[in-house]
Amino acid sequence: MKLESFILTNFKNYSLQRIECSPGLTCFIGRNGMGKTNLLDAIYYLCMGKSYFNMPDSLAVKHEESFFRLEGHFTVDGKKEVVVAKVIPRKKKELERNGAPYRRLSEHVGLLPVVMIAPDDTNLATEGSETRRSFLDNTLSQLNNNYLQQLITYNKVLQQRNALLKQFGENGGYNPALVEAYDRQMTGPATAIHQSRQQFMEPFRQLLQQLYQSISGEAEEVDCRYVSKMDQAPLDELLRDAAEKDRILQRTTVGPHKDDLDFTIRGYPLKRFASQGQLKSFILALKLAQYRKLMEEKRTPPILLLDDIFDKLDNERGRRLLELLIEGDFGQAFITDTDEQRLEAVIRQFGQQYLKYQVENGTAAKLNRHE
Ligand SMILES: Nc1ncnc2c1ncn2[C@@H]1O[C@H](COP(=O)(O)OP(=O)(O)OP(=O)(O)O)[C@@H](O)[C@H]1O
Ligand SMILES: [Mg+2]
Repeated sequence: MKLESFILTNFKNYSLQRIECSPGLTCFIGRNGMGKTNLLDAIYYLCMGKSYFNMPDSLAVKHEESFFRLEGHFTVDGKKEVVVAKVIPRKKKELERNGAPYRRLSEHVGLLPVVMIAPDDTNLATEGSETRRSFLDNTLSQLNNNYLQQLITYNKVLQQRNALLKQFGENGGYNPALVEAYDRQMTGPATAIHQSRQQFMEPFRQLLQQLYQSISGEAEEVDCRYVSKMDQAPLDELLRDAAEKDRILQRTTVGPHKDDLDFTIRGYPLKRFASQGQLKSFILALKLAQYRKLMEEKRTPPILLLDDIFDKLDNERGRRLLELLIEGDFGQAFITDTDEQRLEAVIRQFGQQYLKYQVENGTAAKLNRHE
C-alpha cells in the first residue's frame, strides 16, 4: 500500500496544498508552529476518517473558512484508491472512497493501516486507562473491522443503559427488568471484544518485550498485561453482582469499557518506576509492536508517521529505532523535524528514496526531486 499524493483544502493552517509522496521517506522540515504535524494529521485523517488528536473536526477547519477537505491518492494491491474527507461544521461529515460515500465512516477503518508515533505518546503510560483502551481499540479495529462494529454496538447500548440508570436515579423508581434488557444486549459484543483483546495481547506482550530490549539495549523486564474483570467471570454475572452499585452510582461499573493495560518494569508500575529514557523506550516499543502486528496481519506495511521523534530521542535510541524499522521490511514513512541536518543524517542511513519539503506558515515547498 502506498500514498502517492494528497491535497489539503482549508485544513488547519493550510489553504490549498498538494503533496507528492515518496514511496520511501517523505520529510517535512520547518520551524515550530509552521504546519509539519498538520500534514501528518491530514494523512492520518485520510486513513482513519478522523484526526489523530482528540478534538472536534470543526477546530481543524482553517480559521475564517467554512469547511475543510482532504483528498488522498493511494495504491492498494496495485489498485488506485481515492479517499476524500469533507467537513462542514454542524453538518454530517462525508467520507468517500472512489467517489462513493461510505454509509458508515467506520467501514473505512482497516483499508489503509497507519501508525503514528508522536512526542506526547507517553500519555499512554502517564494518563488514565482510556488512553490505553483507545490504543488497543485502534489497533484491533484496524486489524478487524468486525471488532470495531462490536465496539460501536457495545458503546451504544452502554450509553443507553447509563442514561436509564441516571433517569432512575433522578426521577426515583427502579425497574430491574428494563436494565436487564440492556444487559442482554451488551453481553454478546462484550464477550467478542474481550476475546479479541485477550487473543491479541498474549503474543503482543512478547513482541513488546523483544522490541523494548532491542531499543533500550537494556535487559530489564517490561510487561504489558491485559486486565479485565471478564477474565474471571462472564459479563452477565458481573452485571448482576454490580447491579446495586450501578444503581447507586447511576452508571455501569463493569464491562470492557473498564479494561486496562498494566505496564510494568521489573514487575513495578512503569508510570512510577521508569526513568524518562525507559519510559520513552517502552512507548516506542509499544508503537513498533503495533506497527509489526499490523504489518504481519494485513500483509502490507502500514503508513508510518513519525512526528518529531528524533528531537526527543538521543542518537543511540534514534539509530536503533531506524534499524528496527528497516529490518522489519518497512514500507512508507513520513517524518517531521525542525533540524534539516539531523534529518539528513537519518536519511542517509536509510539509503532509501526520499523527498524533502520545507514547511513554512502553511505552505510546503519541495526541496529535491527523486533521483
Ligand atoms: N484551524 C486552524 N486554522 C488555522 N491555523 C491553525 C488551525 N489549527 C492549527 N493551526 C495552526 O497550525 C500551526 C501548528 O501547526 P503544527 O502543529 O503542524 O506545527 P509544527 O510545524 O508541527 O510545529 P512544532 O515543530 O512546534 O511541532 C499553529 O500555528 C496553529 O495555530
Ligand atoms: Mg509538530
